[in-house]
Amino acid sequence: MTIRLGDTAPDFTAETTEGTINFYDYLGDGWGVLFSHPKDFTPVCTTELGETARLKPEFDKRNVKIIGLSVDLSDAHHEWAKDIEETQGTALNFPVIADHDKKVADLYDMIHPNASDTMTVRSVFVIGADKKIKLILTYPASTGRNFDEVLRVIDSLQLTAKHSVATPVNWKNGDDCIIVPAVTDEQAKEKFPGGWKTLKPYLRIVPQPTDDADMGAWINAEFPVES
Ligand code: BEZ
Repeated sequence: MTIRLGDTAPDFTAETTEGTINFYDYLGDGWGVLFSHPKDFTPVCTTELGETARLKPEFDKRNVKIIGLSVDLSDAHHEWAKDIEETQGTALNFPVIADHDKKVADLYDMIHPNASDTMTVRSVFVIGADKKIKLILTYPASTGRNFDEVLRVIDSLQLTAKHSVATPVNWKNGDDCIIVPAVTDEQAKEKFPGGWKTLKPYLRIVPQPTDDADMGAWINAEFPVES
């Protein structure tokens, strides 16, 4: 099955290191990250799971539930978890799916037969609160992913969802943003009472909106605004 951005994330019920989990129940009303790794007891995966566990408070802050997957059995996951804690210094603190029948891997097209017909590739799916697929990453087995980048994209996606801004090249949290083209100047006046800078009619720069109730409060107070 091919999954594309904007599709509804397929629901499933699966065995995990934290018991049987229904995916939608696990996500609740929040966001999710579902990511696969090729195999238990492999070096790159060990570092990735340790790092993701270390970053869990950052995912929590953003109301994002994490769930991993590999096509090994639960017993192997539990054994490997000891190695992850020992070598990476952080214990697993999110469920890992034991997808030995490849049910979830097939549902999310995580096996790319010309790379390997037995192991999953390194897939990442970010799922929004509306259960739609917001981001898909596919990495080869030999390259560990950058989970800071996953957090960066989630920050961008959540800003778009809450404040109708997009984020420019190499954007980092706190940098200026771009008013999405769907927002007219009339609408922008209401949404961004602090003003914005028009470089071109289609390129309107605003300081990053905050989550404050007062949308006129900007993170970057020195920004030269116009409206
Ligand atoms: C790893 O996770 O270390 C790995 C898995 C498959 C191939 C190469 C590396």
